[in-house]
Amino acid sequence: NGNPDADIMLIGEAPGFDEERLLEPFVGKAGQKLDGILTAMGTNRKSVYLTNIVKFRPSMANQTTNNRKPSADELAASMPFINAEVEVVAPKVIIALGSTAVKALLSSTEPVAKMRGEFHEFAGIPVRVTYHPSYILHNEATSEKRKLWEDMLSIMEKLGMPITEKQKGFFLPKP
Ligand code: URA
Repeated sequence: NGNPDADIMLIGEAPGFDEERLLEPFVGKAGQKLDGILTAMGTNRKSVYLTNIVKFRPSMANQTTNNRKPSADELAASMPFINAEVEVVAPKVIIALGSTAVKALLSSTEPVAKMRGEFHEFAGIPVRVTYHPSYILHNEATSEKRKLWEDMLSIMEKLGMPITEKQKGFFLPKP
């Protein structure tokens, strides 16, 4: 969803309730947070390409929430679709939002906190791992927002996007 010529491809986990209803990725609360992040970067959801690893999330027996983590089988079944999306869009950078995207793209079960802060690679394309916007919704600590923002700054720098002094200072502790 978004721009098929995008430089930036963002990959989340799976559609939630709002996404299943509207058939678009990131249109619920996490999506609003993501919109805010994209605006702060000087871009928007029409200029980037947004998708999820898993394309739908069927309910399972004994499920207690409607956003259970996708199973290993679901991730494996989703990879041909992600591979095709990456091939068609051919972004300059991929942003892996949260642990499910990390698991699927980088075959790693390391926590996001360990994987973020540097570039990895998927299909020859640099991948930056950062927190899922829903993590930031649940953890409002400025230090965590700053970490996500530093991942975004490094992506902007890599793509040669303009970065203002004001943008550099977002979420820094006040002196
Ligand atoms: N969370 C995700 O990972 N993807 C969405 O599309 C919405 C919420």
